[in-house]
Amino acid sequence: MLNPWTSIRMLLTATLVTLPAVAQERGRSGEEVYKQLCAVCHGDNGDGKGLIQLDRPARSFREGGFSFGNTKEAISRTVAAGIGGTPMPGFAAMLSDAELEAVAEYVITFGPKQPESPDAAMRLIVGRRPQVVRGYLPSIASGKKGHPRGLLVGTVDGLSWEYAADDLRLLAVRQGEFVSREDWKGRGGAPLKPLGRIVHLREGGEPTAEFVETPSARLSSRVMHPTAYRRVLKATEILDRRAWVESEVMEGETSIATVRESGEAFSLSTVAGYRRTFQVERHADNALHFFASSSPLGGELESVLIDSEGFLCFVPTGEDAGTAYLFQARTALDCTASDHGVSVKIPVGKVSTDFTVTVFPLPVGANESWEQIKKEVMP
Ligand code: HEC
Repeated sequence: MLNPWTSIRMLLTATLVTLPAVAQERGRSGEEVYKQLCAVCHGDNGDGKGLIQLDRPARSFREGGFSFGNTKEAISRTVAAGIGGTPMPGFAAMLSDAELEAVAEYVITFGPKQPESPDAAMRLIVGRRPQVVRGYLPSIASGKKGHPRGLLVGTVDGLSWEYAADDLRLLAVRQGEFVSREDWKGRGGAPLKPLGRIVHLREGGEPTAEFVETPSARLSSRVMHPTAYRRVLKATEILDRRAWVESEVMEGETSIATVRESGEAFSLSTVAGYRRTFQVERHADNALHFFASSSPLGGELESVLIDSEGFLCFVPTGEDAGTAYLFQARTALDCTASDHGVSVKIPVGKVSTDFTVTVFPLPVGANESWEQIKKEVMP
């Protein structure tokens, strides 16, 4: 039997190859873009019954009820970024801003008129600038504790980055609307209510430390292991429409490195994901590794070296699901994928190291997506 993923990919690849030539001639109307790129999955009339029948069906636009926001701005962001962990690809590289807006307007015409949400006044919206809020973050997954010191960053592409701020770690990436709070004036009172849907829950919502001394110490390490360095939040900064989170990596009471990180949506032609950019500045020569993921759970881990500056790795979870990680740097990287997880070694004797790690949470059909990612990323 033909895997539905294979047919989607073939169809998409065929459309992608033929389209750009048309696009350059003139901006396409919303309807044209929709018929060419979206109808295969969402159906000609927006009912979600396209040529391709997905396991996880494409949204029917006729009923309204957009879980990632229903304004023109919100929809064009969703279309640009795609939706990680689902078959909805990102179209940022393929459509101009005008075409994104046009197709968003067209999508809105399918549905009923949307009433304004009753708690609109309590919602904080990300416009052309990222937003950063701090406060109590409720439990992110069942059985997990809330975080009294939470940090939520909303970026202009419609993603939100949910961090625990004491011993800084990224818990999850969300997508959609940003955040609401019953009382914005209260001093640290009312909890934050992140509104986006989780597209990637990191390590079940309780991720282990990302900066550690030695990979092998990590197997036995949970959060408090002595060789997992503590990370102290120092500052957040908005620069050129990006949000940066700055932290110190601590050994005892001494900072051994300053880490700045910033996130954004990132997609390849058939999968959506997100990219984190790291700038690490060393103050000491301690052994230092960055872990993008802890030990794999489901099966054989597969990794490929792209060139000296890139490394691609697939961490399966279960039979046909998993996450792909892509490391990239301007200088040679020492990357490892093993039972301990997927990591990069921060070189000693170099003051600053910059790298990016791009994460593609893959839904059912992951093996197929993985093959596609390799094809697209390898030279
Ligand atoms: C490969 C199939 C596929 C293609 C092609 C595709 N989509 Fe989607 N789209 C999906 C799926 C599946 C979902 C639902 C994801 C989920 O929430 O589980 C979705 C969700 C969406 C949403 C989010 C709705 C919400 O809940 O807020 C929007 C908006 C959207 N698509 C618009 C588009 C537009 C516009 C295009 C063309 C430029 C397009 N899609 C092309 C599969 C596709």
